[in-house]
Amino acid sequence: MLPLSSFIRSTVLAFVLSRLCQTAAFQLSNPFRSVAFASKTVVASSFAADGSEYSSKDSSEFEDDEDGNKDFGRNYRDDDETPTVELGPVPMSKNAGNRFVAVLWDAELVKGKDPLDLHYDHIQTTDDHVMYCRKANLYNKTFNTDSMVDILWSLPLLSSDLQRVIGHAMCLESTRLDYVQNFLAEDPTVKTITGGDLTNVPLYRWRHIRDYSLRIDDGRDGYPCMCFALDDDPEYVKNLREETVRENLEYLIRSERVIAAGPLHMPTEFKDDPSSNPMGDLIMFNAKSRDDAIEFAEGLPSAEEGLYKDMRVHFYNSLDITGKFVSEDPLRDSPCEQMKEALEHWGYPVGDDQTPHLNF
Ligand SMILES: *[C@@H]1O[C@H](CO)[C@@H](O)[C@H](O)[C@H]1NC(C)=O
Repeated sequence: MLPLSSFIRSTVLAFVLSRLCQTAAFQLSNPFRSVAFASKTVVASSFAADGSEYSSKDSSEFEDDEDGNKDFGRNYRDDDETPTVELGPVPMSKNAGNRFVAVLWDAELVKGKDPLDLHYDHIQTTDDHVMYCRKANLYNKTFNTDSMVDILWSLPLLSSDLQRVIGHAMCLESTRLDYVQNFLAEDPTVKTITGGDLTNVPLYRWRHIRDYSLRIDDGRDGYPCMCFALDDDPEYVKNLREETVRENLEYLIRSERVIAAGPLHMPTEFKDDPSSNPMGDLIMFNAKSRDDAIEFAEGLPSAEEGLYKDMRVHFYNSLDITGKFVSEDPLRDSPCEQMKEALEHWGYPVGDDQTPHLNF
């Protein structure tokens, strides 16, 4: 195992998205940009952006700016005349309700091809994939109303040396299973790798456990990994899943490294279908190295008890490529900015306030 230095990581990020965000690659390796960013941060925090106590007496730095400080103080007066605006809750997406996860393992879908060629085939599709997802996510009550699937995240899976893309995982939300299947069949990445045939593309209903203690930032104290664990045949495992569910949850919470987790179920048409049995687990977590990731996955109480017949752990590129967080800074990601302009030109609602369902 190579040491996972941040150099390797930024190289890979840059590499993977080189076609999409050429300037993003520049950004990762350009020392000047981080200097600029750092000085911006300092300016913001000098005005106590974090709400910490600040007094001009603490430092002589602001003595020349007496008026400015008074002005600043006035904003905090109770009789401030600025009207209070009450914000409503973020509306639910019309496509919310059922969360699905689809996984592509390129080498299993395209047999006998050189791994590096597979990698290039995959990243060739990146720009088209981003645009496809972006278009699906940008709708409102009057425009693009027949977009029936939200793409919550779309993450390329990486080889353990972080040098190649080996697959892809996508989280899709929709009111119906067939919408998801139709969406996937037309996705540029899926289409290139499978020819549009979804037979060997695992698709699950994902019961994401929405608990704040299972929401550690990706990349904190390690590299983001995804663990897919599929249950063994029911005749062997019997009630093991139910028996270990609680212990597993405690293990995940105690680890303080889980980004998101939840059981994978049969992708039934309806959520409450009794045959939508759990058939595995998807756990996204941070790990310092390949060995660390494996140790964490094998240490799951359910794994130790022998619940799974198949466990796979992959690093993934945490730069989500649904295009959801398109930067507007032309110095940073101008290719993405061009995409935004194009979408606007085609009539898509691109403003953050126009698509509140995206901003959760
Ligand atoms: C939907 O988005 C389009 C494009 O931005 C805009 O012209 C239209 O007014 C929006 N409709 C609603 C109901 O917000």
